Amino acid sequence: MTAKLIDGVALSKQLRGEVAQRAAALRARGITPGLAVILVGDNPASQVYVRNKVKACEDSGLHSVLEKYDASMTEAQLLARIDALNNDPSIHGILVQLPLPAHIDAHKVIEAISPAKDVDGFHVASAGALMVGQPGFWPCTPYGCMKMLESIHYDLKGKHAVVIGRSNIVGKPMALMLLGQNATVTICHSATRDLKTMTLQADVIVAAVGKRNVLTADMVKPGAVVIDVGMNRNDEGKLCGDVDFDGVKQVAGWITPVPGGVGPMTITMLLVNTLEAAERAAG
Ligand code: GUN
Repeated sequence: MTAKLIDGVALSKQLRGEVAQRAAALRARGITPGLAVILVGDNPASQVYVRNKVKACEDSGLHSVLEKYDASMTEAQLLARIDALNNDPSIHGILVQLPLPAHIDAHKVIEAISPAKDVDGFHVASAGALMVGQPGFWPCTPYGCMKMLESIHYDLKGKHAVVIGRSNIVGKPMALMLLGQNATVTICHSATRDLKTMTLQADVIVAAVGKRNVLTADMVKPGAVVIDVGMNRNDEGKLCGDVDFDGVKQVAGWITPVPGGVGPMTITMLLVNTLEAAERAAG
């Protein structure tokens, strides 16, 4: 068996087209959806990420402001910038790129963002809204994974989903989203005993660890859906995920590639959240 690919590039293109249409409709009402991206310091990976986010906004007709600050910026200065953006009606979404320099408390910074502009979905108000099923903003990466499952018309009701990884940004919100669709959900992590026993029972596996070859073919039930959130480099320096793609694709029913899978979807869902924030503000 060779798994079918869930193409994150093609799905992103479709969803970004819809975002562009909705953005145009808002612009016709005199409102341009606006995203502010704040980068503190010169982390090279972060520089690439924020550049991609800003470019994606431009391509979809969203207004974006990139604020770059020196690593010596104080926490108080950053909090003051967030306060100003919270009160700026031209800005509907605020994203502070992580990681922040060690002298800045990232939790305090995230909590300073207005929940109405929390398009990353990292604020405790957003996490709480997801947990109790109230409207809020879903973190972009697991939200993108849900859109990928939706794109193949996968009915999660009663299915067993195994999430590998328990981060606040991916693993935990992913589990809640799957639960919200009536899946039976298991969260596995570094202290899980016998991961393979868990994954072999899974109809859906989401790998979100940040380590190569966490999931190999012998760990996958034939026909399972495998979503790879990982972003790693192999020995040749090539981008790869957490899943042994070449092996697992022989067993799985569906699989997401890396690159070209979850990665583009993360930025796409940021655009969706920003647009949603602007639509909510417009009433
Ligand atoms: N750093 C790595 N991924 C992300 C993300 O999705 N959002 C933010 N704010 N920082 C990140």
